[in-house]
Amino acid sequence: MALLEIRLYGDPVLKQVSAPVTRFDAELARFGDDLLETMRDAHGAGLAAPQVGVLKRMFAYDVGVDEETGEHPFGVLVNPVITRREGEQTGEEGCLSFPGLYYACTRAMAVTVAANDVHGRRLELDGEGVLARCFQHEIDHLDGVLFIERLSRGDRKRAL
Ligand code: NI
Repeated sequence: MALLEIRLYGDPVLKQVSAPVTRFDAELARFGDDLLETMRDAHGAGLAAPQVGVLKRMFAYDVGVDEETGEHPFGVLVNPVITRREGEQTGEEGCLSFPGLYYACTRAMAVTVAANDVHGRRLELDGEGVLARCFQHEIDHLDGVLFIERLSRGDRKRAL
């Protein structure tokens, strides 16, 4: 495994739209491991491929252990699509491409995501709260959308 370089705000790659993954091979699985390792090394809850300069529709996530359920959701999702959104939540959000910046961001409270794993198997995941926020934030990255674009106008100005 290897640590990858995380691109910071201002790098044009963060504004690009990533391409669907069509080849599920050992190289893709290795890249998924690297993405997860790089995210954990940087103490992030999510890291999308374009944030390391790779324009592929995939991201790693690990939102830690849920204190209520004891579940610890983490992994790598490929070609993710949000198929359900419910409710609304507003909470602190950050991004590894904006070190040290946290702003209140409004997102759906719960989502369902259809995706592949790195081997091409179909998955469907339900996320609520922090996990739902993470999924929405990372999928935005795949379309070149950054969380500062989701902030109130005042916060967005301050962030910039
Ligand atoms: Ni981010």
